[in-house]
Amino acid sequence: MCGIVGYVGKQQCADILVNALKKLEYRGYDSAGIAVHSEGKIKTVKAKGKIAEGLEAKLTNEGKPVGTCGIAHTRWATHGEPSDINSHPIGNGKITIVHNGIIENYREIKEFLISKGYVFESETDTETVAKLLDYYYEGNPKDAIISALNDIEGAYALGIIFKDFPEKIFAVRKESPLIVGKGNGENFIASDMTAILEHTKEYYLLEYGEIAELDGENIVFCDMHKTEITKELSVADWDLDAAEKGGYEHFMLKEIHEQPEVIKTTINPRIKDGMPDLSECGITPEKLKKYNKIFVVACGTAMHAGLVGKYVIEKIARVPVDVDIASEFRYRDPIVSEGDLVIIISQSGETADSLAAMRLAKKLGAETLAIVNVKGSSIAREADMLIYTHAGPEIAVASTKAYMVQIAVMYLLAFEIAFAMGKIDEAECRRLTSLLRETPDVIEKILEDTEDAQYIASQLITADSLLYIGRGLDYALSMEGSLKLKEISYIHSESYAAGELKHGTISLITDNMPVIAVATQTDLFDKTISNIKEVKTRGAKVIMVCREGYNPDKDIADFKFGLPDDVENLIMPMAAVVPLQLIAYYTSVLRGNDVDKPRNLAKSVTVE
Ligand code: G6P
Repeated sequence: MCGIVGYVGKQQCADILVNALKKLEYRGYDSAGIAVHSEGKIKTVKAKGKIAEGLEAKLTNEGKPVGTCGIAHTRWATHGEPSDINSHPIGNGKITIVHNGIIENYREIKEFLISKGYVFESETDTETVAKLLDYYYEGNPKDAIISALNDIEGAYALGIIFKDFPEKIFAVRKESPLIVGKGNGENFIASDMTAILEHTKEYYLLEYGEIAELDGENIVFCDMHKTEITKELSVADWDLDAAEKGGYEHFMLKEIHEQPEVIKTTINPRIKDGMPDLSECGITPEKLKKYNKIFVVACGTAMHAGLVGKYVIEKIARVPVDVDIASEFRYRDPIVSEGDLVIIISQSGETADSLAAMRLAKKLGAETLAIVNVKGSSIAREADMLIYTHAGPEIAVASTKAYMVQIAVMYLLAFEIAFAMGKIDEAECRRLTSLLRETPDVIEKILEDTEDAQYIASQLITADSLLYIGRGLDYALSMEGSLKLKEISYIHSESYAAGELKHGTISLITDNMPVIAVATQTDLFDKTISNIKEVKTRGAKVIMVCREGYNPDKDIADFKFGLPDDVENLIMPMAAVVPLQLIAYYTSVLRGNDVDKPRNLAKSVTVE
């Protein structure tokens, strides 16, 4: 979703801003722009479309604004279509702003401002904030900001420049994240660290009710009463390499290959003497023993990680687990109460629906546990208990390594719950934990040869539609496989419980329709084979993801992707998701799509 950057220092800022915006491209956007204090004016250049074709082309044609202080934005349209005029920065030459989030009461404010003689040009909610600031501005930026914020309802992060203060940037936020980066003789604002990582690793996390005022030398924070506050400086532990492609053609492929490493980084510190130990995250056996019911609430891929968690927790700990899509959970009046545990899974930690669902769960008396990748994110900060996944920055919109470590954490949690509740003994807990520890090697091996995945992808590229089927844990995985494929290949795809096909969906099967059958669970294997035969006899082109030792006859499958035979059923999803990721990746590549930035999608969805 939208991205914000700001620079103030001694260097010409146009290129710095544009390059930083490029680092935020992964969030998803449809227009981009910059505004720079330039020769006594605020000069704004903005354009619909990708940065390279839109904004950069315009900057080449019109010339880059000269200046050392500016703000910039990538916009993911919500109010008003993607267009030059609706792009940010937005302002009137006196005050110019960039905005992430949504202003909920913008209609009322707009009517009020129109009654005061203001004329609106764009369809955005953002323009109401720019004009409201102008309405209140009498020479003191902070007074204007405080008055405007008192009127505004919604979620926002704002970067603001005033013509009268050519060496300053002001910033505020509510809900939408914003950091202030501290450099050497230069300072930054950004909606996430990846934008400014090449300049600095030191940053302040702006909180709701705080205003940041920065020039090249100083960063000053105050509250809504203009009382100065001291904030703690944080240091990002992500290095620049993690946010670069490192020789891979796409971030997605790099992130798929990083999976063995990030599993180790995530689980190893949480295993002590061979047993899972989540005590540093505030999770103890005493706590885990007492929950009546567990809910897992999340969106997209993170929700699919929750589904794997449900199968595993229910299987070994015998505690009921409900998995909910966050946008449904929050409006379905869920039956959640004291004694329940609500687990929120989120890579970004900022997904609006997941955050709202967590707040609701807290209000209903449940304890909340967040499994989050981005440090200091809203969900991380508000949860009762917190497990960070250590996936590092995930740049590709289609999540892979973050999903992998979300599952890894769900396994550790399941083992610990099962042991705490006496459902497995210590020996079994140790055995399962050591199996989990072996998964990086298993995945490493699968990644050594990606040719079969490439061949399978070549069989899919002309399909209009395909199905993923599986049973049990394979079904949970097939949902993720199907989502991955449709996100980046733009081929319609659905996942179905293999046994449910005959109740409707089988009518879709026509000659050569691809069906990807995930059949790794030995206890369900024969049942799945029966379902595969049902589609094969109706003409489907069947691709099996199964164990290496199984060689399907031609009347069962046309092709298989083989997985190691000796991986236990329970742990198999960690390995089996890898071919599904690779198949989606290569299908997208072969179709010539923008793999890392698929159309219409955003990495971090901060609107509901
Ligand atoms: C977006 C992304 C998905 C992601 C989902 C949840 O839709 O495109 O890849 O799974 O949000 O994001 P979160 O940051 O909460 O895991």
